[in-house]
Amino acid sequence: MDFSFNVNTLFSEEISVVRSDLIPEGYSGELNHSLVQQQVSSILDAMGEASSKAQGLKQQITSGLKFRQTEGQTAYILVDKYSNGGKGSVIGLLKVGHKTLFLLDSEGKSQEMIPNCVLDFYVEERRQRSGCGKKLFEYMLYKEGTHPRYMAIDRPSIKFISFLKKHYGLVNSIPQVNNYVVFSGFFKDRPQDCSPTPKKARIIMGKLQYV
Ligand code: ACO
Repeated sequence: MDFSFNVNTLFSEEISVVRSDLIPEGYSGELNHSLVQQQVSSILDAMGEASSKAQGLKQQITSGLKFRQTEGQTAYILVDKYSNGGKGSVIGLLKVGHKTLFLLDSEGKSQEMIPNCVLDFYVEERRQRSGCGKKLFEYMLYKEGTHPRYMAIDRPSIKFISFLKKHYGLVNSIPQVNNYVVFSGFFKDRPQDCSPTPKKARIIMGKLQYV
């Protein structure tokens, strides 16, 4: 996706990490921060819109404003530095973040957890099926220090289901009552940051109670 501004002045790497401040991680360019934020916001708006269209969703999941207002989410942005006459083009967006979810394990028991979730994932149409998604996803896994089987997927599309099967052998999902999909192995030997949240305890009428 091309923009009127120079994408390469925002992102020095092929894949960049952006959090709610909308300043790419490690940004050391000359633009002032508010201009960087405006341009990153436009990118999230345009890629978010294209992603929702591609998934046939009525509501846009990702926008600059929503991203800015939501703490704890990370966007990974893939660019082609040589495209658009050397100004660079944005070709992929992957958004992840921890969510508090009630998830059913394979025995149907509900557990409150805060897993890292895949929230939005999009590669520009003409670049799909050429390895861009895998490149972006692998980088995210490396940076987040996780494996796809530990992640919950928000409303995966057919293309993404196929992607997970092809690249990570994920096929057997555990039925849930919400929009999230988790795969067999999700509950086994989880890394500590994703373990079930301890229930909050309070003293009520002299007794320790879990709330
Ligand atoms: N039909 C079926 N499977 C597909 C398709 C397609 N049109 N496109 C990609 N895939 C799957 C296949 O398994 C494919 O392997 P194959 O070509 O051997 O069949 C594999 O992905 C290709 O891997 P990559 O090239 O690394 O992936 P790509 O760059 O295409 O990115 C992505 C995958 C992000 C799902 C992309 O296809 C896309 O943007 N699709 C439209 C938006 C979308 O569905 N996003 C996921 C929404 S769910 C969520 O965000 C939580």
